[in-house]
Parts: sequence; C-alpha cells; structure tokens
Amino acid sequence: MRTQVGIVGAGPSGLMLSHLLHRAGIDSVVVESRSRPAIEATIRAGVLEQGTIDLMVQTGVGGRLMQEGFRHQGFELRVDGHGHRIDLHELTDGKSVMVYPQHEVLKDLIAARLADGGQIAFETRNTGVYDVGGDPLIRFTDKDGQAQELHCDMIAGCDGSYGVCRQAIPEALRKEYLRIYPFGWFGILANAPPSSDELVYARHDRGFALISTRSETVQRMYFQCDPNDRVDNWSDDRIWNELQSRVTGDGFRLKEGEIFQRNIVPMRSFVCEPMQHGKMFIAGDAAHTVPPTGAKGLNLAIADVAVLAPAMVDHFQRGASEGLEAYSATAMRRVWRAQHFSWWFTSMMHRQDGTSEFDARRQRAELDMILHSRTAAKVLAENYVGLPMAAQSTQSLN
Ligand code: PHB
Repeated sequence: MRTQVGIVGAGPSGLMLSHLLHRAGIDSVVVESRSRPAIEATIRAGVLEQGTIDLMVQTGVGGRLMQEGFRHQGFELRVDGHGHRIDLHELTDGKSVMVYPQHEVLKDLIAARLADGGQIAFETRNTGVYDVGGDPLIRFTDKDGQAQELHCDMIAGCDGSYGVCRQAIPEALRKEYLRIYPFGWFGILANAPPSSDELVYARHDRGFALISTRSETVQRMYFQCDPNDRVDNWSDDRIWNELQSRVTGDGFRLKEGEIFQRNIVPMRSFVCEPMQHGKMFIAGDAAHTVPPTGAKGLNLAIADVAVLAPAMVDHFQRGASEGLEAYSATAMRRVWRAQHFSWWFTSMMHRQDGTSEFDARRQRAELDMILHSRTAAKVLAENYVGLPMAAQSTQSLN
C-alpha cells in the first residue's frame, strides 16, 4: 500500500487531519487499533471552542453539531456554595462554546471520511513506524491478521499519549515536560436530568467539583479525589453526598439519578518537544496532555492539525516546506498557552493539601480577583472560549 500521508490514530486529530487533507486533494490512510463501534460508543467529554466549531462548520462536518450541540454562553463558578456566572458571550465580544461530546465529533468525522471514500483501517495491531527520516513506512497487522506495509511520503502521529509515534523520536532529540498533580477526578455518568443550564465549576473546602452534561438524560459529574483512591470505595450514597456537599447553596441542589459509570481520572500536564522528527509530525495527545479542567484536550488536538494540514498541502502542491518546518514552533505556542491556562484553572479551583496557609489564602485571593475584576474574568473567559487558531492555517482550508 502507498499513500501520501500515513496517519496513526483515528482520534480527533487523526480524523480531522485526514478530512482536511482530503478537501485539498491529498490522499491519506488512517490506521487505528480500536474498532469503529468501540470508538463511537466511548462516551467522552466535549466542550468545543469557537475555533473548533468554526473549522467543523466551514469544512462540512458541523451539520449535526449545529443541530444537536448545546451552545453555552457562560458557565458558573461556585465558591463555597455561592454561584457567580462567567458570561462568556459578553466577556469575549460574542464568543461561546458548544457542549457536544467528543465521540459525536468522531462519529461525524468517520462518517465524512467513509462517505468521501477515505480509508480507515480499524482493529489493527502491532503498529510500528519506520525510517521516518528517509522513506517512511507504517507496518501493522490488519483485522484479518494479515501483515501490512503502508509506504508514505510522511507520517502523522495522532496516536495519543501511549502511542508509538512519539517514541519514534530519538530520546536525545526530544524534551519531555511532565507535571503530575497530587489529586485526581472521580467521574460519574448518571441517568438524570441536567441540574443546571450551564456547566458548574465548584471550589469548596472539601475540594473541586464539576457538573457537566452529556445529553438531556445523561449527566457527567466529577469531584476531586485522591488519585490512588478506588471506585469500589464509593457507594452511590457516598458519591451523591460528596457531590452535593461541594455544590449545594443558594437554593441549588443536584438532581440525582442512577449512576451507571464511575472512573478515576489522573491529572497531568505533559508536553513533548519538538512535534516533528524527519518526515513524521505528531499531534494531539501524542504530543501533549492537559489536565481536564477547562476541557482543552480535544480543542488543542484540532488546533494542531489546523496548522499541520495546510503545511502538508503547501508541501505537496507547491513544494513549499516553510510551513512544515515551522509546524512544531507554531503549534507549541498555542500548546503552552493552553498548558498555562489548564494549570492555572486547575490550581485555582482545587483543594491543595500540604501547601502553606499563605498559599491557601493566596489561592482564595486569586479567585476573588476573578469574581470581582472584570479584567480578570475576561482573561478566564478568553482562554476558556479558546485562542484564535493560527491565522495562516484556517485560510487555506476554506
Ligand atoms: C466533561 O463534560 O467531561 C467536562 C466538561 C468540562 C471540563 C472537563 C470535562 O472542563
């Protein structure tokens, strides 16, 4: 097999890249270890920034998003049981976010790729990338157990935090930055009506909580926990009591329901630099992880390929390599801004055990600044709705 761009991973960055390349007449093949039903059924978070929404709509994959997604013009910061609205729309001159789960984005991208004749090899095993500096090759075992070789002009490593592509950058040439937080999120999915029209981010002496949603009938909620805790330690009653205690106040109370999924999410910040080695370019979680506070992961993955796709197109259509040479540096700038924001929002909202009393009071003052200074609230809102995507990128995709 031969293609122009071999893409490892059918997550948001891999599928969006394949879609954008196709629109410019560039051929790609996506190699993915999971099955299509498994990808489409894994319920994931999804707060889409304005730039992600715009890119989906402009490139023809935003139809269902526009019909079924929920537009959120603001969110609530609850501090010790008192709610304060962050009016995204007003603070950012009309921008907002949409809540549309990541697996729905993936469904739309997979459907679009297949309708356009795109090739996605699902349920592959033993995937490896070879000779990325010379004549790039992806080897894998397909779902029928046949060994396959995919020769490509370049490779996109979109295979997530634990994928093989990042590892193919020699250790001496990559620098990794890692911060592990001393807390995790206990997440539940419950069959219940929404408790609030907008997302609720709560700061309480017992710890952080987040009230989010998946649909009119399924709600997603989280509370800060010990990352080494186990879901079996928590009965449904204990979970609801903990959540209620962190958000109740001013007449607000959660609507409870049957909990049908629970998991503990570790929290880390990670960056691998550079995002290129030879003819291989890595994007999304393969290159960086953010803690979930602020929901930047998916958006960052899409923003990476909004830079990478036009650079690849310039290379294939005009023989111009400046875009590809600048890819890592261009993407990194936005990555570090999102890293800062995710770290900041996380550290401001979480209970920090073991820090000094000074730090505890300083943290409270920081929240106080957001609640009482419009300028500070604007900084939070601007980062939450997302920075503009790199200007040169979206142009050539339209
Ligand atoms: C989620 O719905 O899972 C979610 C929403 C917002 C966040 C993080 C996670 O900031």
